[in-house]
Amino acid sequence: MISLDGKVVAVTGGASGIGFATVKLLCTLGAKVSIGDISESGLDTAKEEILRLHPEAMIYTAVVDVRKRVAVDGWIVDTLRWGGTLDGAVNLAGVVGRFEDLRIKDFDESDFDFVMDVNLKGVLNCMRAQINALEGKTGSIVNACSISSLQGVGSDAAYIASKHGVLGLTRLGAIECGSSGIRVNAIAPGIVDTPMLRKSFETRGEISTDHTALNRKGKPEEIANLIAFLLSDCSSFITGACYSIDGGWNC
Ligand SMILES: NC(=O)c1ccc[n+]([C@@H]2O[C@H](COP(=O)([O-])OP(=O)(O)OC[C@H]3O[C@@H](n4cnc5c(N)ncnc54)[C@H](O)[C@@H]3O)[C@@H](O)[C@H]2O)c1
Repeated sequence: MISLDGKVVAVTGGASGIGFATVKLLCTLGAKVSIGDISESGLDTAKEEILRLHPEAMIYTAVVDVRKRVAVDGWIVDTLRWGGTLDGAVNLAGVVGRFEDLRIKDFDESDFDFVMDVNLKGVLNCMRAQINALEGKTGSIVNACSISSLQGVGSDAAYIASKHGVLGLTRLGAIECGSSGIRVNAIAPGIVDTPMLRKSFETRGEISTDHTALNRKGKPEEIANLIAFLLSDCSSFITGACYSIDGGWNC
């Protein structure tokens, strides 16, 4: 049985989609959850909904832009003050940029910088603060990769490059932190029904799941299950891994 009883977990992007489903599950499993997200209204709604479902849930929320190192450091310090310790972290804050298909030959520098800043530098800022906070303790960090970390389909240069980068940071983090007892893993979701995906489909058109083994979109709750497993002691011998969770995208 997976238990996260009393563990303090910091989650970015927890106000929406996969992050929100993850926070809900972690609270159910007994964790104390600190959510960092750029959307103040999203945080308020998420907290209200979770407390409605689990009145006993221990949640701390902070408006944080993961692109800003000082803001991320401050959030993790506040999380330590609030929770007394840090046991795990989930880095899910992400964007898909301008919501249109940009080919490499047409790519826009400002859009590329924006996506790289949130998706890649944001994860680096978070990992840096989290690893420092975990120093001297065991812990588990889970990063958001994507099918776009493993192949060149389904998105634009900025998103693909950023998500390949997150896989690299995950592997490097695992190597650097393994001897300290900190595990670092990634999840690589396929098509998951979230606000990000719906907004992207509106402008780019739907990506078909016809070729996948399960022939459907994933639910955020299904991704949350894998994240909870990777945070828990049930995955104690797993590090540096990137788990595909995509309904059989490549079968
Ligand atoms: N939905 C999918 O199909 C899918 C597939 C593969 C990977 N992913 C990845 O999973 C993660 C979660 O995606 P989702 O679909 O749940 O998206 P979502 O848009 O529903 O949620 C993303 C959250 O990140 C927050 N955020 C955005 N920029 C931020 C910033 N600068 N600082 C702090 N928070 C910020 C948003 O406010 C939002 O709450 C992302 O990293 C995404 O790339 C999603």
